[in-house]
Amino acid sequence: MDFKIAVLPGDGIGPEISACGVDVMTAVCNKFGHTVEYRHAVCGADAIDKAGDPFPEETYQTCLWADAVLFSAVGDPKFDNDPDAKVRPEQGLLAMRKKLGLYANIRPVETFDCLIHMSPLRKEIVEGADFVCIRELTGGMYFGEKLEGTDHAYDTNSYTRQEVERILHTAYGYARRRRHHLTVVDKANVLASSRLWRKVAQETAPMYPDVETDFMYVDNAAMRMIQDPRFFDVMVTENTFGDILTDEGSVISGSMGLLPSASTGEKTPVFEPIHGSWPQAKGKNIANPLAQILSVAMLFEYFGLLEEGRLIRDAVNASLEANVRTPEIQIPGGGIYGTREVGAWITDYVNR
Ligand code: IPM
Ligand code: MN
Repeated sequence: MDFKIAVLPGDGIGPEISACGVDVMTAVCNKFGHTVEYRHAVCGADAIDKAGDPFPEETYQTCLWADAVLFSAVGDPKFDNDPDAKVRPEQGLLAMRKKLGLYANIRPVETFDCLIHMSPLRKEIVEGADFVCIRELTGGMYFGEKLEGTDHAYDTNSYTRQEVERILHTAYGYARRRRHHLTVVDKANVLASSRLWRKVAQETAPMYPDVETDFMYVDNAAMRMIQDPRFFDVMVTENTFGDILTDEGSVISGSMGLLPSASTGEKTPVFEPIHGSWPQAKGKNIANPLAQILSVAMLFEYFGLLEEGRLIRDAVNASLEANVRTPEIQIPGGGIYGTREVGAWITDYVNR
């Protein structure tokens, strides 16, 4: 394949992990006879500084040119404690999702045996947990009508039937490729928008008789994820619930820095780590590049290039087993490896 890739490093540790992702992608392309052309573009706080807009038109055009976007992270503390800021880095991410029509956010939660001890849950509860959260990404409160007054404010949790239907079909597609179990997460006992979700899901379920569908309130789902994460195979939910549950999912596995995600929909798909921009670590060569590197694996898999994805996953597992790890997951007495060293080790593994 001839890949055209838009590279959006963003803020904080973004540029450092982005460079690792690009190196691994290049190595895999060389190995399997694909060509790849990269175009870098700005987003987030970096783009506010350089272009006055967290997702400038030029960046959007670069994304449209590309077959896929390799995204890293946005966010900068100088905006976090200023609720009156006119423009925020996160708006760049939201604009990208909306403009590219990325309605399906795919967030796998998997455990790595050698990191299970990092999980806040007991080993016997979390071991073997392996599920995917399909988060609706372009609707709900994030994009519904808002009022931001001095004495009154609201966000509207709005969904149309069509938005619910398409994400359900995406989720059933994943369930069919996995263990044939879909959990629809909502708050239908309270919210009108959730009752629409449930109604549409009840109508859709009979189209997938080979998949077992169950329904769970979001509060219960948050609890179940901690008590019995192995219950889940594929979970589908609206934007805000999905935001919250996927942070929970990423820590129960003990591998927050390792989880990648894909956002797909109408235009160019985006592949990115689940973690944020970790501004305190910027430039220190300590950030874990594995989530970014695994997002490259998801990119190849999206295009049906399963062997390429497999090689990256094998390389990541080998690096963990060889204790070539960044400080936050390194074992006592293990060597000191930075972002660049871990990235280079994995690139070398691919080149072997
Ligand atoms: C995420 C992030 C974003 C979100 C922020 C940075 C806007 O938390 O991708 O989960 O809330 O969607
Ligand atoms: Mn989030």
